[in-house]
Amino acid sequence: MKVLIVYYSTFGNVYHMAKLVAEGVESVAGASAAFRKVPELMPDSVIDGNEGMKKGHALQQDVPVVSDDDWRDAGAVAIGTPTRFGNMASQMKNQLDQLSGLWMQGELEDKPVGMFVSTASLHGGQETTILSSLAPLLHLGMIPVGVPYSTQELFTTQGGGSPYGPGHVAGGNNDREIDAEESAICRALGKRLANIGLKLQA
Ligand SMILES: Cc1cc2nc3c(=O)[nH]c(=O)nc-3n(C[C@H](O)[C@H](O)[C@H](O)COP(=O)(O)O)c2cc1C
Repeated sequence: MKVLIVYYSTFGNVYHMAKLVAEGVESVAGASAAFRKVPELMPDSVIDGNEGMKKGHALQQDVPVVSDDDWRDAGAVAIGTPTRFGNMASQMKNQLDQLSGLWMQGELEDKPVGMFVSTASLHGGQETTILSSLAPLLHLGMIPVGVPYSTQELFTTQGGGSPYGPGHVAGGNNDREIDAEESAICRALGKRLANIGLKLQA
């Protein structure tokens, strides 16, 4: 059973989170991660003019862009995005807006879906980003999955992560490392999506 990990990342933080979510998926027998990015919408001139963006994009140059077949084939989906003014990034929204073909055919119905997010600041909107993303995901008929408190790191995280989903505080310069608690919560989401996807397919 494939778990689609589809993400957008400007500076690389969400990319690194996606790798941790994939580790969680791969820890479950019978599940494998399909690792995909969404298309960039910013012009090359903007990216080339910013060292952080250039490094972030270079990291991901070999990651395949997601296709409709990736969505169709997935038994579960993890969606990663940086927070933009408390919401998902337009690059990710653009991808969801292109799912209307699959939506009209009911192809995404009953697939479990979880979100993971990165913010610059601690209270910059990780929870609002996930909760505001529920509307399109429910329209698509997907089943929202978070990370419950059996994941002990939810009690101790000094960075990101909540029952709504994994989070990372990247800092004002986008260079704060993903810490141990944030990492554990990322892995927990991947593992949970894999297990739920397998149960739903049974
Ligand atoms: C237009 C814009 C809006 C942003 N809005 C927020 C915000 O509401 N809260 C916050 O903490 N960070 C905000 N940020 C910072 C990003 O969330 C941060 O750069 C991102 O989490 C880094 O992830 P990445 O390395 O995967 O790109 C914003 C950044 C941009 C460019």
